[in-house]
Amino acid sequence: MTSPRILLIISGGIAAYKSLELVRLLRRRGVAVRAVLTDSAKEFVTPLSLGVLTEDHVYGAMFDLKEEREIGHIQLSRQADLIVVCPATANLLARMAGGLADDLASTILLATDKPVLAVPAMNVRMWHHAATQRNLAQLRADGITIMEPDEGDMACGEFGKGRLPDPEAIAERIMAMLAPEVVTPTLAPQLLTDTSRTIVAPDRSGATLYGRHILVTAGPTHEPIDPVRFIGNRSSGLQGFAIARAAAEAGARVTLVSGPVSLPDPPGVRRVNVQTAREMLAAVEDALPADAAIMVAAVADWHVADSAGQKIKKDGSGATPTLTLVENPDILATLGRHARRPRLLVGFAAETNDVVAHAVAKRVRKGADWIVANDVSVGENGPGVMGGADNAIHLITSSGVEDWPLLPKEAVARHLIERIADAL
Ligand code: C5P
Repeated sequence: MTSPRILLIISGGIAAYKSLELVRLLRRRGVAVRAVLTDSAKEFVTPLSLGVLTEDHVYGAMFDLKEEREIGHIQLSRQADLIVVCPATANLLARMAGGLADDLASTILLATDKPVLAVPAMNVRMWHHAATQRNLAQLRADGITIMEPDEGDMACGEFGKGRLPDPEAIAERIMAMLAPEVVTPTLAPQLLTDTSRTIVAPDRSGATLYGRHILVTAGPTHEPIDPVRFIGNRSSGLQGFAIARAAAEAGARVTLVSGPVSLPDPPGVRRVNVQTAREMLAAVEDALPADAAIMVAAVADWHVADSAGQKIKKDGSGATPTLTLVENPDILATLGRHARRPRLLVGFAAETNDVVAHAVAKRVRKGADWIVANDVSVGENGPGVMGGADNAIHLITSSGVEDWPLLPKEAVARHLIERIADAL
């Protein structure tokens, strides 16, 4: 099994320093990155920092005999699934458009038959210059994908188009270009080692979910009483959204089925918005198959039978309306016995008392593999778990109960995703 592999060509603009962040984001997604620096890029980022982050030798000189003997420029392109030029300066784009091959970067780009993504970054006038636009048109015609730069303040003090996009957005674009079917999914990134020098221990926080489909539900459901009233609960959606985000950062394709919450879309996640439990079940079934499903939503247990089509009015007599409640489908239990049951099914148990005992019973009753249990009593000193920033959970699996310390919801999400990546 191999990880997807990127050959990252960094050319010398002020945005080159952002390539370090891009490497880190790609590594967290399980992508192996090998870097090539142009001479001018070395003025902005050092081969040492890139070597540490990529855990690989960093290439630069065309006529380094050792490099050419051990791994030639053709090999560098052959061993990659995708070549990314980031940042791509006006100068390198011009040389690419003209077919020049006067250094290692341009030679690789001329010799490659692999897909190429160029991420330009330059001063606004350079971007709008007719020569640059002509070169870009030529490169597009040659089949090179160009990621449009952002508009904003420039390092040179001007304002306009030409800023390097956010590294997170570039990483997403790269993941989208690495078609999963071309690459075999892997549990751990294939680490390319360099025996010629010592490398500082890398950040290994990223177990990879590359090539996996992860389904997450989040938030409350709203069950209408009439067009303006509903039955709901205090779920904020924060924990589910953090889990969806962490799964996407680990390289998964993520579907997030969300009840009504006011949270922005996590980057790189497909979000499906629903209101009611019945809509949530339909959206979850639509999203199958999935490798793992993490059911974080606080789904209402009941909906109102025959909710009114018009706003219910007081009639002045003092009579109160009677609401008849009907049980909602249990989405988790439905998946637990589904013909397309996800391989790993994780439920949440929000409890106010006997947290672990209830959760242990729930795991069996709902046919889940794991239950993440938490105490949702509303504390005196804050919003409690629902709406709060932290969560102290118990993870219940077939082999027992783990008590995790109180952690920010993002940290709970990352640790849980690491466990899921291990289990898959
Ligand atoms: O039974 P309880 O609501 O405590 O179970 C919580 C778990 O079951 C959560 O994972 C929640 O998303 C899921 N659930 C569900 N459908 C329901 C009720 C709960 O999927 N109708």
